[in-house]
Amino acid sequence: AIADIKGIKQGKLRLAAVSTAQYLIPQILGPFCQQYQGVDVSLELTNHQDLETRMINNVDDLYILSEPPQELNLEIQPFLENPLVVIARKDHPLAGQKKIPIKRLQGEPFIMREMGSGIRRAVQQIFLDHGITVSLRLEIGNNEAIKQAIAGGLGISVLSQHVLNLDNPNGEFTILDVEDFPIQRHWYVVYPKDKKLSVIAKTFLDYLLNIQPQSLLKVKISR
Ligand code: PGA
Repeated sequence: AIADIKGIKQGKLRLAAVSTAQYLIPQILGPFCQQYQGVDVSLELTNHQDLETRMINNVDDLYILSEPPQELNLEIQPFLENPLVVIARKDHPLAGQKKIPIKRLQGEPFIMREMGSGIRRAVQQIFLDHGITVSLRLEIGNNEAIKQAIAGGLGISVLSQHVLNLDNPNGEFTILDVEDFPIQRHWYVVYPKDKKLSVIAKTFLDYLLNIQPQSLLKVKISR
């Protein structure tokens, strides 16, 4: 039930995105829905593995993720940076140190995302590449809960820089300056190549690809 009468777009837009998009997509949807008042949006926030299943089953119009699966035939377009950083509580012994060798994280108490998380996969890969084993304290399927666990003194973690609100420099967190970090990544907007996009999905896709990062992000991307 999608109409495009006199330039007024109406209908449903189904979005599915990985967890970190919670810091991004709602802000984008504000002005978008203002401009296209007839559009009814649903946003599913999940992890990479779940998103891949949804893609295979053709559940949504567009997908937002940072590690596009290689084995699917996808249209993939990057739109914003989404770096991964090492986050610790401000009173962590490594806080403030420069160029910390990644080996220094050996045995460090660590809080990890759940199986199926793209962040988890990226973190495991970089530790594997450097022969590092952290000391797993806790596994949580939620970035905000990981922040709370860091604040609670359970350990450090690697998360998207967007989970930190750097507007508040006196907050309780710090980014550790570990070598090989930040892991540079992007958010991509993705859909199966053989999918025919609705008028609304195309409109949102264009909107997303034309976003000016400065206008949107509270967090300054370093480097
Ligand atoms: P995840 O992805 O929720 O699958 O960990 C988040 C991200 O890659 O930013």
